[in-house]
Amino acid sequence: MLEAKKSLIGLSVVAALVVTGCTSSNEVANDTAKKVETTTTTVSKNVDGAVKYPVVNGYSSVYAVNTQEVGNFKYGKTPTAAQIKEWDLDVMPDGTGLPEGSGTVEDGDELYEAQCAMCHGEMGIGGKGYPPLVGGDVEGLKNQLINPGDEAPIRSIGSYWPYASTLFWYIKSAMPFPHPKSLTDDEVYAITAYLLSVNEITIDGEEMDDEYELNREKFLKIKMPNEAGFYPNVENGSEEMNKFLNDPSNYGTILTKDKCMSDCNKKTATWNKNGKADQVVTITQELDGVQPPLSQERSWPVKKDEKAHPGKAAYEANGCGGCHDNAAIGAPVVGDKDAWAATLEKGLDAVYHNGINGINAMPPKGGASISDAEFKVIVDYMIEVSK
Ligand code: HEC
Ligand code: HEC
Repeated sequence: MLEAKKSLIGLSVVAALVVTGCTSSNEVANDTAKKVETTTTTVSKNVDGAVKYPVVNGYSSVYAVNTQEVGNFKYGKTPTAAQIKEWDLDVMPDGTGLPEGSGTVEDGDELYEAQCAMCHGEMGIGGKGYPPLVGGDVEGLKNQLINPGDEAPIRSIGSYWPYASTLFWYIKSAMPFPHPKSLTDDEVYAITAYLLSVNEITIDGEEMDDEYELNREKFLKIKMPNEAGFYPNVENGSEEMNKFLNDPSNYGTILTKDKCMSDCNKKTATWNKNGKADQVVTITQELDGVQPPLSQERSWPVKKDEKAHPGKAAYEANGCGGCHDNAAIGAPVVGDKDAWAATLEKGLDAVYHNGINGINAMPPKGGASISDAEFKVIVDYMIEVSK
């Protein structure tokens, strides 16, 4: 849940920039783009949710500048009850936070096709570079570390997630990726029902067919297959638990023979016929490069005339900065020489291609409704100011 919360924070910044509201039609995107463009001259570039805050007395930040400055605290303001409510979306396994509402598998199927399949694949099978939402099984998880030759298990909703509440909450607060928080509670119920049905979850013994209508009451009866998988399967209290914890085969590598504390490397590790290591494989690599070398650069960087670049306005208007001005998101930050040098190692054409088609958490064209040529101009700008 913490992970989900973390990404939620990043995501909603993005979402606010891409489209606010509940449709993603080109008109809406273009409208939003124009609005942003015409206001950037007087306000700060920094973004907190959908809001752009003005610079006050020379101060600006991702938060509102506090005009009633107290001591050294210049930023932030007390959130309103409505703002807190906007963020207070989490749903707990016991049902806390789960709203009333309902939706059928069939409606969910339709919504999924329209808003999710382009990233998560038909029926959630993945294959488009985004997480698959079906696949794997609980048995597969158990073999994870014990047999080193096994492939990593698929950890999807049905095989891995202990509680369905996470699914509801995740979709409601973080998806669809380009415009989270745009679905109504009924729509979230419908999509959740659909995803549970493709994961072959049954509720109270009942299969979820197309007509199945999920509501709050039924939701609270869901038992996910891996609910117990996060705790060791130990029945008789602490004595058994100690025994369990003292047997490393319960969690992977076996430490037999000598514990290898020095001069070990992978080659000396042998595997016995059960596929378990007789000797520990240790990390032989040294940790160096922790302190990056001091820069040898002795001249002032040449000031680039950013304003003149035709990609600058489009960069701002299309909300690329929501991700590319923020190191926490994992996008190459504009202005970060090293990050862009590394990105460009694969060649400019590949970078254009990846940006246009999307790569990992970079949505195709950053979620903007622009032509390939317009997109490339923005990329040129990003590269130009990151040299
Ligand atoms: C533009 C691509 C995109 C679209 C459209 C999209 N998603 Fe996602 N989805 C993602 C990405 C990227 C992640 C991973 C986010 C992360 O880990 O921070 C994700 C993660 C998820 C997860 C969590 C998967 C896991 O195992 O961790 C669920 C569930 C999910 N999405 C459901 C949906 C639903 C439902 C919709 C439609 C309403 C949707 N997504 C639309 C890109 C997308
Ligand atoms: C939703 C967040 C997000 C938005 C919005 C976004 N990007 Fe990205 N972008 C990323 C991330 C994350 C990466 C790094 C992807 C990776 O390599 O894992 C990336 C990478 C890139 C790359 C490098 C591709 C490569 O070859 O590695 C380019 C170019 C790029 N983005 C351009 C843009 C442009 C132009 C826009 C605006 C139209 C934009 N991005 C908007 C998240 C975003």
